[in-house]
Amino acid sequence: MKTTLILASALGAVAFPSMKNSRDVQMNIRSVLSNVERRSLEARQQDALGISRSESNCGTRVCPTFDGEDQLVSVSGEHQYIAPGPGDIRGPCPGLNAAANHGYLPRSGIASIEETVSGLGALYNLGPGISAVLAAYAVAIDGNIVEGVWSIGGPLPTDELTGALLGTGQGLSYSHNNYEGDSSIGRGDAYINNGDAHSLNVTRFEQVYDIAVKDGSDRYTLDKFRAKFEEAQDESIANNPYYFTGVFSTVVVVPAAYNFVINLMSNHTAEEPAGYLDGYNFKSFFGVAGEPGNFTWLKGQERVPERWYRRPSYAPYEAQDVVGDVAIGYLAYPDTLKFGGNTGKVNTFTGLNVANISGGILDVSTLFTGDNFACFSFQLLQQGIPNFLDNAINDLAPVTDLINKYVGPIVGGLSCPQLGNLSIGLFDQFPGYKYSPTGPDTNY
Ligand code: HEM
Repeated sequence: MKTTLILASALGAVAFPSMKNSRDVQMNIRSVLSNVERRSLEARQQDALGISRSESNCGTRVCPTFDGEDQLVSVSGEHQYIAPGPGDIRGPCPGLNAAANHGYLPRSGIASIEETVSGLGALYNLGPGISAVLAAYAVAIDGNIVEGVWSIGGPLPTDELTGALLGTGQGLSYSHNNYEGDSSIGRGDAYINNGDAHSLNVTRFEQVYDIAVKDGSDRYTLDKFRAKFEEAQDESIANNPYYFTGVFSTVVVVPAAYNFVINLMSNHTAEEPAGYLDGYNFKSFFGVAGEPGNFTWLKGQERVPERWYRRPSYAPYEAQDVVGDVAIGYLAYPDTLKFGGNTGKVNTFTGLNVANISGGILDVSTLFTGDNFACFSFQLLQQGIPNFLDNAINDLAPVTDLINKYVGPIVGGLSCPQLGNLSIGLFDQFPGYKYSPTGPDTNY
């Protein structure tokens, strides 16, 4: 417990110093962390696994108490489960699909930034800062910036009232490399699935589900999922000639999604206030029925379980937690930090190092000191944008203004090195970087 406390506060403070009052405390915490890092980088997984294992299902926060009234999530009345109707959109993210099926997001699957912040806050206690960033990025890159909306699944439809196109945004389902990436938990890689990285692959789900069957625990943890992420990357390298990693989607979003399952889908009780995720809750959130061997995916029917208690209000999952948990994953499993891809054939992974990409400002030994990883993550997000936008958009300003509005306050609290322009052009050599499937216009 003590180790958890130290690490939890250390990572919180290191990633986001403005969150702590005393500079001295921060300095001490920084040195604790840098000792941990040094050991973990030197000893690779041996000590690093200790960092990852010491985390509870509340991630970088400590959640020692339970308050049923505060944490019980309503699944009745306006929040009763209703399967999506014919015009409703669902997509690759089970957390968003479940939110829409219970009316925490608009049931249509098209949401504004404000609706995202309030809905995901109420349902999961996802922090308002990170919710707004994730939604703003979706509006800017896959949605409709004029209307300020985004789609949790396929392309935005035509507005039935005005006949106007709500936008050319392809939605999350066809956001390969800008939002969606390879080596996901339950979705296959886009290139080897004809562009479909949004449908659940039941075999893949079963492999993850098996983790807590094989060890007899019926408990999923951050550490087990981080190890699974490493395995998923190896599978992608061995099977997907267009496997690619290096941009915000694959360096941050994909590993963050593994952590989201544990941090946001875990149930909480008086006996297990820091949360637990068992097979029952895991299946419900992923819309899976049946038992191992005969699982079926109930497309678009992701559900919040009855009598399910979210994270406590005093422990929102905010931007610093998202970035801190991803950083712990890379420290604990250094091989998962990859920039590069296969070069058109399987098993041809060619990596670039952090120094190449950051113009020598950062390297693997400094990436995880201070606020550097948080700074680097948000730089990847911001600087990747022009490469993903439709060529028809010739005025970038509204897009960058929107992103800066929400990313700015977070980055403003960090002490970032002068990163300048990242060498994103280096990614052009990987065929998977340019692979950008667009949808059939389906709702799922
Ligand atoms: C505005 C908020 C959110 C956005 C924009 C978003 C977006 C995405 C995207 C683009 C993916 C595909 C990533 C991949 O390739 O693996 C994804 C996957 C995922 N997301 Fe979300 N997400 C959000 C919130 C949430 C929340 C609140 C949860 C949990 C409660 C969640 C859980 C997941 C999980 C578990 C996956 C992986 C699914 C799989 O591989 O089977 N997300 N999300």
